[in-house]
Amino acid sequence: MYNLLKGKKGIIFGALDSNSIAWKVAERAHEEGAVFVLTNAPIAMRMGEINELAKKTNSQVIPADATSMEDLENLVEKSLEILGGKIDFVLHSIGMSVNVRKGLHYTNSNYEFTAKGWDVSALSFHRVMNVLYNKKAMNEWGSIVALSYMAAQRVFPDYNDMADNKAYLESVARSFGYFFGRDYKVRVNTISQSPTPTTAGTGVKGFGGFLAYAEKMSPLGNATALECADYTITLFSDLTKKVTLQNLFHDGGFSNMGISDVIMENFNKE
Ligand SMILES: NC(=O)c1ccc[n+]([C@@H]2O[C@H](COP(=O)([O-])OP(=O)(O)OC[C@H]3O[C@@H](n4cnc5c(N)ncnc54)[C@H](O)[C@@H]3O)[C@@H](O)[C@H]2O)c1
Repeated sequence: MYNLLKGKKGIIFGALDSNSIAWKVAERAHEEGAVFVLTNAPIAMRMGEINELAKKTNSQVIPADATSMEDLENLVEKSLEILGGKIDFVLHSIGMSVNVRKGLHYTNSNYEFTAKGWDVSALSFHRVMNVLYNKKAMNEWGSIVALSYMAAQRVFPDYNDMADNKAYLESVARSFGYFFGRDYKVRVNTISQSPTPTTAGTGVKGFGGFLAYAEKMSPLGNATALECADYTITLFSDLTKKVTLQNLFHDGGFSNMGISDVIMENFNKE
């Protein structure tokens, strides 16, 4: 370990279980010397596993539904008290599509479900930054990261309305990131991560096949949740102070591939 986050204070959204990307980020942030508050939707708390992570990382848990301004204001106020000062890093690791959950096809969306999924997965990032910005809760040279997926740029049919949510999320990172940079020297980025076997990931139809395909397309193979956590730590550290308004691909090279030899082999037989 390198003490990359020594003395830094943070808030980590979205650790549901030990597969969650946020769970790995919390473990790595703890190893690198950070102190932080863990948060998740009250409904996710009932599953209870987050308390295990809290114990392991000496952190406190504050429930917050990321679609509720009241919850987010309470979370930020309490975090400032618990951490004894302003915040250096925030991870937004939240995603959910009701259309996907209910098995509705993209061409036959239920718009109430679409609106709910957008609120949870995308608008919540604006809400989180709104509260942090208006409460002047971030330290100078702080870092805010949200997790995205390449369906924001390219077509992955079964990713459904989450593709649109990710496009919005990445746009919010740029738009809010401008004001955060200008006014508080805080950077805002999204990490566009490989498909990863988590609760949210495996909820996408045909996930197993897609995971295998991406693995064979990427020269370095798929990036794991732990590798994503490592990358996130670099963005929270002082080694990346001038990186902002970016969508950063962390996908073993997948996003710049056209075709790979291994995939081609299946077609050369024809
Ligand atoms: N797994 C993948 O293949 C993959 C790939 C790229 C990006 N991502 C993104 O990574 C992020 C984390 O997902 P994950 O894969 O670790 O899955 P996960 O299911 O472990 O995490 C999703 C989290 O969102 C939380 N959440 C849902 N509704 C919420 C609400 N209203 N308020 C607060 N929290 C809420 C859940 O409780 C859960 O902790 C998501 O943004 C996801 O889209 C995942």
